[in-house]
Amino acid sequence: MDEKEIAAAAAVKMVQRGFVIGLGTGSTAAHFIKLLGERAKNERLLLRCVPTSVASELLAKQVGLPVARLEDIGRIDIAVDGADRIDSQLNLIKGYGGALLREKVVDYAAKQFIVIADASKLCDSLDAKVPVEVVPFAVAQVKRDLQRLKAKAMEVRAAHAGGHFMTDNGNLIIDMSFGTIKNPAELERKINEIPGVVESGIFTKNVDCVIIGTKKGAKVIKKKD
Ligand code: 5RP
Repeated sequence: MDEKEIAAAAAVKMVQRGFVIGLGTGSTAAHFIKLLGERAKNERLLLRCVPTSVASELLAKQVGLPVARLEDIGRIDIAVDGADRIDSQLNLIKGYGGALLREKVVDYAAKQFIVIADASKLCDSLDAKVPVEVVPFAVAQVKRDLQRLKAKAMEVRAAHAGGHFMTDNGNLIIDMSFGTIKNPAELERKINEIPGVVESGIFTKNVDCVIIGTKKGAKVIKKKD
C-alpha cells in the first residue's frame, strides 16, 4: 500500500452501516472509493454515496457503490476527500483535480468531513496556487477583480488536450498565486464576493480531522481549538 492508500484505508474504517457518504475526487479519494466498494460488498453496508465529480461517480458505479443525487438524500453522514495543501490549522487548498465546487458543496454539508492525504500535502501556512472556478462569461472581469486582491500571478487553467480546462459544471478555472496566505478564511470570503466567481479552492470550514498515510501507518490530526 502506498501512503495515500493507507490514509484511505483508515477512513474506510470510520464508515458505518447505512451511512450516506460524500465521495471526494482525486487519486487519494479513488483509493477510498475502491476500498469502500470492497468493504460495502463484503459486509453489506447498505450505503448511499454522493460523488463530487463525474470521475468519482464512474468509479463508484464500477466498484458497485450505490450512487445518489444530492437532491435525493436528506443528510451526508461523512465526506472523505483529498487535499492539495493542509496547513497547521487544517485549512485546505483543493481543486487541482478541478472538482472544487462540488467538493465544497458536499464537504461543507457533511456532518463529518475527513481529509485523507500523504505527508507531502502538509505545510505550516498555505502558500500554493489557489484554483478559482469562474463562469466563462465573466472571466475577463473576474481577472481584473482578483488582481485587486493582490494576486502575484494568475492563469486560466489549460486542458491536457489543448484549449481551456472545463469543470464538470461547464466553468473555467483560474489558478491564482498569492504567496503565503495570512488569513485563509478572509481570502476565501473575498474571492467569493466577486461576481462571476462560482467557488474558490480555499476550504476553511468543517474539517473534523486529517488522516495522513505514512509508511508506519495512519496518523490522525485533529483540529486545535
Ligand atoms: C480535486 C481535489 C483533490 O482532492 C486534490 O487535488 C488531491 O488530489 P490527490 O489525492 O490526487 O493528491 O481537490 O479537485
